[in-house]
Amino acid sequence: MPNAPTLTSFGPGKVILLGEHAVVYGEPALAGPLSLGVIAQGSPASRCKLEIPPSVRGRGRKLLTDAFARAASASGLPKIGVAVSSNLPISMGLGSSAALSVACARILLRAAGKPEKPEDVIRVAGEMEREFHAQPSGLDHTCSALRTLILFRRSLKGIAPSVSRIQSPRPLRLLVALSGKRGPTWKTVTELKERVARWPAHYLGLIREIGRIAREGAREIERGDLDALGDAMNVNHGILTALGVSSPPIDELVHRLRGLGALGAKLTGAGGEGGAVIGLFLEPEPALVKLTQAGIHCFVSQVAGPQAL
Ligand code: PMV
Repeated sequence: MPNAPTLTSFGPGKVILLGEHAVVYGEPALAGPLSLGVIAQGSPASRCKLEIPPSVRGRGRKLLTDAFARAASASGLPKIGVAVSSNLPISMGLGSSAALSVACARILLRAAGKPEKPEDVIRVAGEMEREFHAQPSGLDHTCSALRTLILFRRSLKGIAPSVSRIQSPRPLRLLVALSGKRGPTWKTVTELKERVARWPAHYLGLIREIGRIAREGAREIERGDLDALGDAMNVNHGILTALGVSSPPIDELVHRLRGLGALGAKLTGAGGEGGAVIGLFLEPEPALVKLTQAGIHCFVSQVAGPQAL
């Protein structure tokens, strides 16, 4: 069959358990991979190109084309046509652009005959993410590329990023629920940056406190103390609300998850007018059934720890 796909790769989405927004300012954040994500399929082609469906037009099409072009040059322009498909909700705080970037980076490196070393996947995917988000912290695509729970601190002022893999002795099971629509990450990040620049005394202490909670949360996971992790998530959500990145639809869903027995619940990702909310549960299935019956789009994902057989 001509042009049969010869290569396939996967980039998982991610959830931030603790530390979004503060990570932009150099604080650590804790993130884990989802089972949902983006699949890329590659076939031999006359030039290196992303096959974008005709329904994607205008600014979205240009953004995808420009982002892919950056990754293509960073990987040596292999002659491959790349088609992508996703089962991840887009622009809801679940790292859809990073998942796309990682799936493309993997397939481009493989097509160029280069080993898929994690640092190369992170470098090539980072090129795409910079086109999508201007100045991303790097947390999303690093988590997607490493496919494991990480405590991440971005590169700032010439200091290299730091990434620690966090082992959980217990399964970390999250219920991910979606509420409303939200704007792009760069908008929420830029608006917060403007408030921080204008009133640093109001904000910088809160941002540092989120970093402290993320570090503490990582230790609690390693100790298997899920009650403490849940409490850290609740406190983190309160601070995100104080920073002005939550909204009534998000807060309502957070309270609903807590009412359904979550050990802790918070927004995940950039937040804004809507987006994804996570709840930490020992057994999320009853809450999943209740929310699904109420018409809320939600799913369960285990982000770390021993998997059930
Ligand atoms: O909403 P998402 O999946 O784009 O995540 C954004 C996370 C932020 O910390 C708000 C931004 C960043 O660059 O880390």
